[in-house]
Amino acid sequence: MRLSRAGKRVKFSHSSPEALEAVLQTEISADPQLRDGHRNVFIVVESVYSMDGDVAPISDFLEVAERLLPCKNGHFIVDEAHATGVFGPRGAGVVQQLGVEERIFIRMHTFGKALASHGGMMKDLCLRTGLIGLLAIVLCCSDTRDYLINYARTLIYTTALGFPFLASIRSAYELLAGGETVQLQRRLSQLIIYFRTRLESLSAWGPSVLEVDHFTNSPIFSLRSQVPRELASVCQQEGYIVRAIMPPTVPAGKERVRVCLHTGNTMEEIDGLIETIQKWLHQTEKKPARL
Ligand SMILES: Cc1ncc(COP(=O)(O)O)c(C=O)c1O
Repeated sequence: MRLSRAGKRVKFSHSSPEALEAVLQTEISADPQLRDGHRNVFIVVESVYSMDGDVAPISDFLEVAERLLPCKNGHFIVDEAHATGVFGPRGAGVVQQLGVEERIFIRMHTFGKALASHGGMMKDLCLRTGLIGLLAIVLCCSDTRDYLINYARTLIYTTALGFPFLASIRSAYELLAGGETVQLQRRLSQLIIYFRTRLESLSAWGPSVLEVDHFTNSPIFSLRSQVPRELASVCQQEGYIVRAIMPPTVPAGKERVRVCLHTGNTMEEIDGLIETIQKWLHQTEKKPARL
């Protein structure tokens, strides 16, 4: 937001169309230029949030902005980093899954998650009039592309990635475009459903030990605990690569163990992880209060 040179920067509550509406209403009533379309509003969201794995209510956000800004001066920028390769037709993201791509000003895709690579300069691979990115693809109109090439300092002053990364990203995109990953996407959704079902067996534990009631359709799961390092370490000792996420990455009180599933996981691995957590919970229960 700082780098955007926006005249005014306002936050709204996480993933809340009501909060967006309240913020927009306040700003519009204070600024006639917003009302008559002479000033722009850029609304920036992630499609899949990186920590809780929840999916943004993009259609509801669009409805709010289009209703309150009928001069079409509300522009959405959607970061699809965690949706790329996982959601939408051939992994094209949540925006395309919803079929609202024509109503989104910018979609940004990165390559470090499902594509198992890094960023890249990918002009030729953009689906529409896309822009290059050093760390991302930016799907946008040609004016925005020209603007970013000339004004985006982080783009101008960053060296492009080397050929091996570009080659690996291209290979991943060829697999996506060729439909070869559709089966993997399907397999991942089965694993997500299975893990969610298995996690239900843990929900009897009180929130002071483990909170597992917030599930999404994404492969990112957040197991809230007051002792996430301890839980993560127990899982790691059993061979599961999961991480404790602590403040300031998440707000204090929202510490968790983050579990990210991938297509290569098996149901047996999920069973094993659940059993490891269950065993830890039983041992934790027997210990005196030490939270
Ligand atoms: C929301 C979001 N956008 C972008 C990125 C950067 O993605 P990448 O690592 O693929 O370049 C991240 C990385 O975690 C992220 O969480």
